[in-house]
Amino acid sequence: MFAQRTNWPLTPNRLSVAVAERRSQGRPLLDLTESNPTRCGFAPEAQEILKALASEEALRYEPDPRGLLAARQAVAGYYAERGVALSPDQIFLTTSTSEAYSYLFRLLADADDQVHTPRPSYPLFDYLATLNDVRLSAYALRYAQGWQLDAASLAACLTSRSRAVLVVHPNNPTGSFVRRPELDVLVEYCRAHGLALLADEVFADYALAPDAQRVATHAGVSEVLTFTLSGLSKISALPQMKLAWIVASGPPEVLSSAVKRLEIIADTYLSVSIPMAAALPRLLELRGSLQPQILARLRQNLSQLDAILGPRSPITRLLVEGGWYAVLQIPSIRSDEAWCVELVQGEGVLVHPGHFYDFPTEGYLVLSLLPPSDIFAEGVTRLARTIETQVS
Ligand SMILES: Cc1ncc(COP(=O)(O)O)c(C=O)c1O
Repeated sequence: MFAQRTNWPLTPNRLSVAVAERRSQGRPLLDLTESNPTRCGFAPEAQEILKALASEEALRYEPDPRGLLAARQAVAGYYAERGVALSPDQIFLTTSTSEAYSYLFRLLADADDQVHTPRPSYPLFDYLATLNDVRLSAYALRYAQGWQLDAASLAACLTSRSRAVLVVHPNNPTGSFVRRPELDVLVEYCRAHGLALLADEVFADYALAPDAQRVATHAGVSEVLTFTLSGLSKISALPQMKLAWIVASGPPEVLSSAVKRLEIIADTYLSVSIPMAAALPRLLELRGSLQPQILARLRQNLSQLDAILGPRSPITRLLVEGGWYAVLQIPSIRSDEAWCVELVQGEGVLVHPGHFYDFPTEGYLVLSLLPPSDIFAEGVTRLARTIETQVS
């Protein structure tokens, strides 16, 4: 009765069973996977947010496939601050980056065409691809005192069905940004093979240190057809608002064809509500109050993590350039999932196993850096104790 694309395994894995058991027993759980900013104890400007939602514009309906002009102008202003001048015509509002991916997969790929994605990366890509009949093939990010794009593995992805290359900037969960020489490789690859470049920049404002080689944004890429995705869920830490966007850029001829087609896709759904679009300029401005709080939390949790692990720990914290996650390399004397189950059952600490993010081998755990610092420190202390006592 159902489509093959929805044929997901629905049996819960060992980790979710262990979490459900613990919760059903009413026992506390230190959740170090929590990355919902509305649950992490930040102080948003509540009155200002509510005021932004009460605009008079919400009372009129002038549908525009790209979304309200004033909202797109505000998005263009955001990129102007990053040194890229955009026309509002290059911008399409969507309800989420997930929806933006659907639009772009539908624009670029027929059934079974391929999009090349980084590995490790964001688990939702598999679902988004399946739902849009697209196949993913992974190119590797490799770690050697920092994460780098493996150009040879990207080259090896190429088939006659390749349609686009996706980068996440900075990547979730590795926290690595695309650097200038890597962008040169990506652009040349896309140009040579007629592919589009998709850049997910939802975490781009959360860089922990400057890097002169870092690409500021992909929104100004003009050599190949490029779609840059971002939105309020991370930039303004307002995932509940459901507002994101696509910036289209590239050589004029192909760009013009792309935006005409994208306009029809967007016009088919007209999915962004006017009250939300009208609120966007103010909600985008309000990032100025939440981003410093989040950056302070990320830095504090990272330094607590390093202090708790110490230099002789068998656990290594991998370099994080930005974003909301940290990756730990751990002894693979058992599977990552087995470690995670033991942490839930024995210590009441929840972290993600590396395979959740498609790490190619065992030996990795992923932590959110967003939880309140006391919870984070206690959770990491218990995690380190569990692993260290079993390894020594
Ligand atoms: C890489 C990446 N892109 C997109 C999103 C989600 O964005 P949205 O809420 O706009 O769908 C996330 C959420 O964690 C993410 O990690």
